[in-house]
Amino acid sequence: MCGIYGFIGGGKVEELVNGLKKLEYRGYDSAGIAFAKNGKLFVEKHTGKVDQLRNFLDSDLSLRINAGIAHTRWASHGIPNDLNAHPQMDCQHKIAVVHNGIIENYIQLRDELEIEGHIFVSQTDTEVIAHLVEKYFNGDLLEAVRKAILDLEGTYAIGVLHADVEDEIVFARRKSPLVVATDGKRSYCASDVTPLISSSRDVVFLEDGQLAKLTAEKFEIFESSGKAVEKKIHHVEWSEKAAEKGGYKHFMLKEIHEEPRVISDALAGRISKNEVIFRELEGWSSNLNVNKINVIACGTSYHAGLIFKYFFETLRPFNIEVEVSSEYRYRNVFIDDRTLTIVISQSGETADTLESVRLVKSLGGKVLAISNVVGSTLTREADKTLYINAGPEISVASTKAYVGQLTVLYLLALYIDKTFGGDHPDIVESLRKLPEIMDNFMISSTETIKEVAEKYVGYTNFMYIGRGMNYPSALEGALKLKEISYTNAVGYQAGELKHGPIALLDEKFPVMAVAVDDKLHNKMMSNILETKARNAHVVAILTEGDTEALKSINDAIYVPKLPSHLYPFLVGTVFQLFAYYVADARDLNIDMPRNLAKSVTIE
Ligand code: M6R
Repeated sequence: MCGIYGFIGGGKVEELVNGLKKLEYRGYDSAGIAFAKNGKLFVEKHTGKVDQLRNFLDSDLSLRINAGIAHTRWASHGIPNDLNAHPQMDCQHKIAVVHNGIIENYIQLRDELEIEGHIFVSQTDTEVIAHLVEKYFNGDLLEAVRKAILDLEGTYAIGVLHADVEDEIVFARRKSPLVVATDGKRSYCASDVTPLISSSRDVVFLEDGQLAKLTAEKFEIFESSGKAVEKKIHHVEWSEKAAEKGGYKHFMLKEIHEEPRVISDALAGRISKNEVIFRELEGWSSNLNVNKINVIACGTSYHAGLIFKYFFETLRPFNIEVEVSSEYRYRNVFIDDRTLTIVISQSGETADTLESVRLVKSLGGKVLAISNVVGSTLTREADKTLYINAGPEISVASTKAYVGQLTVLYLLALYIDKTFGGDHPDIVESLRKLPEIMDNFMISSTETIKEVAEKYVGYTNFMYIGRGMNYPSALEGALKLKEISYTNAVGYQAGELKHGPIALLDEKFPVMAVAVDDKLHNKMMSNILETKARNAHVVAILTEGDTEALKSINDAIYVPKLPSHLYPFLVGTVFQLFAYYVADARDLNIDMPRNLAKSVTIE
């Protein structure tokens, strides 16, 4: 996820930086701007936050320009460095492009463009857009951008400026947001309304496949066919603070609602004809021909690792061990050349996880990292990395990153299984459909989850239970509730209750039970009855249509009927929303819970 801002109609360079600053929450590993003067393109871009860019610009901040585009980056292709920062340029340094999203076919496009003589200088997917616009430019910028986007596969919001076309800037979107506005003297475009509302509260949200041509006095919207589109004006009432959070009260809630998009982005470019492909692992497949997999992680990432194990075992029996990093690093572990170590860390900076990586490497083991932060320590020390491409996660409680981790781990399990001859087109297809399922689920069920959460807000202890793949979901649900609502919550394998924990239960100790219609449903229902017999109130996550279970529980949250392997995704979201609404009803500091840090860089 990155932030894009641009204006046309006259202003100071500093206004580009100020606009960008308001989008910094969308990405902050590098920042850059571009503007043109007298047919010459000026670009300034650097690693670091927007304020570092401001320092570099120094006296240029007061320069008057007609138009400019700006970008704050969260790397997906290419480590954060000055070359990979946006804007990216064409061979002649006439065209500047800023981009948010993932171009899935960029390698193929780059190969073709290189054969045609284009010279590439960065590792980004974005650079192909600048060269495509260069290729198609014939005096008409809108037309060149229109032709360029027809070649692109994947997701994008892009802004394009041409040094020879000073009275126009062009933007386009597919699956990454862009908003356009004008006050009649200047026109603006940005990734969200935050930097626009000081100029105009009447905005147009671009739809997928649309382009916007901005001139000083107005903007026009076009389909990718070139046909002009009537504008749908929205009047925005949000404050700037609310706009940053997309109108949500907290980043955590916004990030939960980003989950369908996160799944799409994690899948992007990794499925072809119902088979998983990981370009990142090309030439490395021999390291996947293993007979043992160790998974190492902390907290939420550890729970994602546990689900990976359960999922992999549905594909084939396999020797998989999942361990928390703070334990693993002190163990006398066995590793040989047929052991693969998968290390999961959203931040890529968790101290115990990094020490575990060093232990594995000192024993000659191979490390495959799964991370959200390009260029983080983990990704530099691992042999290979698969990025989840979730965009910055601001809330301390991990939500969308968890869903991104699950998505990549499922793909990885299928990919490894393929090296042993496995073929599961039905599962790949189910993953492809998941973003839409998740989206519809959130639209239809968020209110119910909120109502149930508000009913249980007075309780101080919760028991989360599940079986099989949904046992780690119980652990994760309990962790979410603990960290943001400061409520005691324990997660257990449902079958383990009678070995001790059931002694805790009474009418003051509710049970959160995952009882979806998988192969362990009947066993789960027996466990629920055991808890009911101790007078516990039971909130159950059930599959739509299961009315029989209602007799044995107090409150139900229904999820749609799915293949069993997909339930952990929706169950995870239910528990995240439940924890969120309990914490919100108590008016707690949800995005920054007490005693916690986003990156745990100490042991
Ligand atoms: O950045 P990492 O994935 O390595 O972080 C691991 C844990 O610290 C993290 O998941 C933590 O448990 C979260 N606050 C959970 O919401």
